[in-house]
Amino acid sequence: MRVPAASDEWVNPLRDGRDKRLPRIAGPCALVIFGVTGDLARRKLMPAVYDLANRGLLPPGFALVGFARRDWDDQDFGKVVHDAVREHSRTPFREDVWERLSEGLRFVQGSFDDPASFSELASTLHTLDRERGSGGNHGFYLAIPPAAFPVVLKQLSEAGLARSDDGQWKRVVIEKPFGHDLDSARELNAVVNQVFPEDTVFRIDHYLGKETVQNILALRFANQLFDPIWNAHYVDHVQITMAEDIGLGGRAGYYDGIGAARDVIQNHLLQLLAFTAMEEPISFEPSELQAEKIKVLSATRLAEPLDETTARGQYAGGWQGGLPVVGLLEEEGFAADSTTETFAAITLEVDTRRWAGVPFYLRTGKRLGRRVTEIAVVFKRAPHLPFDQTMTEELGQNALVIRVQPDEGVTMRFGSKVPGSSMEVRDVNMDFSYGQAFTESSPEAYERLILDMLLGEPSLFPVNAEVELSWEILDPVLAHWAAEGKPEPYEAGTWGPPSADEMMRRTGREWRRP
Ligand code: BG6
Repeated sequence: MRVPAASDEWVNPLRDGRDKRLPRIAGPCALVIFGVTGDLARRKLMPAVYDLANRGLLPPGFALVGFARRDWDDQDFGKVVHDAVREHSRTPFREDVWERLSEGLRFVQGSFDDPASFSELASTLHTLDRERGSGGNHGFYLAIPPAAFPVVLKQLSEAGLARSDDGQWKRVVIEKPFGHDLDSARELNAVVNQVFPEDTVFRIDHYLGKETVQNILALRFANQLFDPIWNAHYVDHVQITMAEDIGLGGRAGYYDGIGAARDVIQNHLLQLLAFTAMEEPISFEPSELQAEKIKVLSATRLAEPLDETTARGQYAGGWQGGLPVVGLLEEEGFAADSTTETFAAITLEVDTRRWAGVPFYLRTGKRLGRRVTEIAVVFKRAPHLPFDQTMTEELGQNALVIRVQPDEGVTMRFGSKVPGSSMEVRDVNMDFSYGQAFTESSPEAYERLILDMLLGEPSLFPVNAEVELSWEILDPVLAHWAAEGKPEPYEAGTWGPPSADEMMRRTGREWRRP
């Protein structure tokens, strides 16, 4: 038998004719944003478009069309984009890049229920196709409340804007929430698919656009080191945390009645779980990656009884960053008796051979101790310690922590001898930090995702089946909480309600305090 040489494992990056290390530039196209006066467009979308232009990744005749009710003309819109870019873009402002981008800015004033506004949009796009060479390739970004999806989709269809003629493409981008439970997600999907076929629908889960999240795939599947221990033989449990220190002032319209589980667990945290728990895909072709995610989500379910394996809370007043902050019920726009949770924690089981018996704890909350997102894979204790108990009193469990944000990187925690003449073992950390290892700064998630959509590259967008499976996982606990009434209050600036700690203590574990 021939022993494989190390070089056998080298994969030719040019195999399909393209060196995948090189950035791809989007072809001729126009991007239409609905909801252009909203926060998302101003803080994320417009700056991301500029950053892409600045990196030379947009085509020369690129056009950005804003659609809204405001009484603006192209110049007013240009000013809005300019201010958003100056305030929020990641890359430095360059006059020449801005000049070129601003030549392709157009504004269409109209309302969602007015067919004439959509005829106007169609004629603007046709003119752009002619004058700037966008070639009939149009992306429609729905940065609008989901209640408005049906009417906008219908109007796009009736104005002939959703139909792809030969050699052209039309794509739609939808922002979460994709429904509020399984039934509504199915309905929404039916509405979307009536107008746009599934392979032209790009659902944004901006966590998948983050470098650190994509790095989970590199860490797991480009290394030999981790896979042998990435299973129930070695892993005790997994903790996925997305903690935020901000409150919900100004977001009542979106958040009241939605809550932490629908806002964050249904999408971001279940996607993080899927990346952490899935099997290795055959390749990174979108269909292969999706197949593995679908498989692992199909095997995932809530641990029971829900009274003991879940917790939810609502922030009360407290202190944050040395300043007093109000509780949710005092925030503007929230009903005084709102039962919306701002903290949610659940326990999941993944019924596969790899993960049988390993709990996955997911938690998220607003107004917590600090802003941090991480995945901690916590290992079992060594089966036998030939040390006296006093020598290892301070030794915890080994852990591999993927630091999604801020301070992006990976930490390995293990025991090490304290220097000195006696044997004492304590936890130490070995760190990889993006900031120190690479000189390149990470693109913003929206840069990556907008570019991928313009390129028609769907890997980082959850497909409908993933969305439905996520609701299937979550629906029972949402129903359970709805029947319970009020969530437990927790003081702002802490790590959530006491019931969340209790939930872990019952299993002999505790939450990390990142
Ligand atoms: C959004 C949620 O999807 O993600 C927000 O709707 C949350 O409630 C935000 O604040 C957090 O995103 P990031 O990238 O700052 O972690």
